Amino acid sequence: MAKALKVGLAGLGTVGGGVLALLAQNAALVTKRAARPVVVSAVSARDRHRNRGVDLSALAWEDNAVDLAGRADVDVVVELIGGSDGPALALAKATISAGKAFVSANKAMLAHHGLELASRAEAAQVALKFEAAVAGGIPVIKGMREGLAANELTAVYGILNGTCNYILSTMERNGSTFAQVLGEAQALGYAEADPSFDVDGIDAAHKLAILTALGFGTKPNLEGVGIEGIRQIDSADIDYARSLGYRIKLVGAARRVGEAVTQRVAPALVPHAHPLASVMDSLNAVVAEGNFVGRMLFQGRGAGAGPTASAVVADLIDVARGEWGPAFGTPASDLVSVPAIPLAPTIGRFYMRLTVADRPGVLAEVTATLRDVNVSIESVIQRGQDPLTGGVYLVLTTHAVVENALREAAAHFSRLESVLAPPVVLQIMDL
Ligand code: NDP
Ligand code: HSE
Repeated sequence: MAKALKVGLAGLGTVGGGVLALLAQNAALVTKRAARPVVVSAVSARDRHRNRGVDLSALAWEDNAVDLAGRADVDVVVELIGGSDGPALALAKATISAGKAFVSANKAMLAHHGLELASRAEAAQVALKFEAAVAGGIPVIKGMREGLAANELTAVYGILNGTCNYILSTMERNGSTFAQVLGEAQALGYAEADPSFDVDGIDAAHKLAILTALGFGTKPNLEGVGIEGIRQIDSADIDYARSLGYRIKLVGAARRVGEAVTQRVAPALVPHAHPLASVMDSLNAVVAEGNFVGRMLFQGRGAGAGPTASAVVADLIDVARGEWGPAFGTPASDLVSVPAIPLAPTIGRFYMRLTVADRPGVLAEVTATLRDVNVSIESVIQRGQDPLTGGVYLVLTTHAVVENALREAAAHFSRLESVLAPPVVLQIMDL
């Protein structure tokens, strides 16, 4: 048997704990698949004395995670601390400089510093692996980097945040409020340390920036992602969407448009017949469209200890076997900068919910404004009452329109005395 791959593990929270549990429970299987044992030799976290429900007494402890990189009994460092900079980034750089492989689940760091880290790893000829950073347990990084390597991609999109999907699914199922369900997602270990990263779409944007680089051979470009979160979604929107034949999902999408790539994270109405509509709870799904393979769907658990540990240990097995290539599929020096259009003037169908004063003439005022900006209405529903303002809900769906025109109308509505709350505008996805 070849000598063991010795792991330095930084971060012993939800994912770090999952990695320890998986390596203990599946030790024999991992050894067979890796053709050598994979053993944790040293660990680091913030609080040495916290009871983590696992026996760490046989493992070396480092108060400063960066010191794991220089240890003689560490061949590969696994970073499960989080944060785009700070100790996680210092550890990544120290590990690569020490000529050792680096494995991480940290999409924030990769979205911000992925290009630099990939360049450093290639110069040092070490592995940089991050399967767990996108869509938890789904092997989408490997699937895109290896399985779809022969394809020109036209689009990659999907449900990239387990917390938001859990919140939207539970609001639909139970009629619970956003705030109630966010607490549950946190208790289940799905949410980021700062859950606003989840609900404001930032975590999904981090993942999309990584997928875009993999899918289109571009430099990761987080600044090029247009981002909207789910805070404005009310259970009324979920009910209206259902009655119209849709489910609301937070969708991250990158599409090639000529020489540019558009990247956008936003809630959207997904038709019930679309494969993304049935992706519920903490499940994630990624659709990739390739010029030879056609439409490909990856689906599975996108968050939580077990699924994420599964992806981290898969990376460790690759490192143990010596199987790795350029971090983003294309050598870092060949990744290209593309004009990124965060919020391209999309043409599409939209849903708009207005909260309006219940008096004659308001509907006429709204439809006249939409006529003036050339927005063609497909359907109008007026029912339900907003408990906060006492106004009534006016829900419109449009035919294909220029998005900017609709946004202009929404901005105008916000200024009207008869419109009592900011309009909610959501895209309607095609099948
Ligand atoms: P947790 O908050 O549960 O755990 C973070 C761990 O990092 C804790 O053990 C903490 O120590 C430790 N830590 C914090 N600061 C330091 C430091 N300066 N030095 C050493 N250790 C430190 O986070 P998660 O496990 O949920 O997430 C870890 C990473 O995995 C993040 O990048 C996250 O985005 C990513 N991820 C998370 C998923 C999930 O479902 N939770 C899924 C996919 C990716 P202590 O315990 O002592 O406080
Ligand atoms: N907070 C993230 C999510 C964890 O909810 O999807 C998985 O990346």
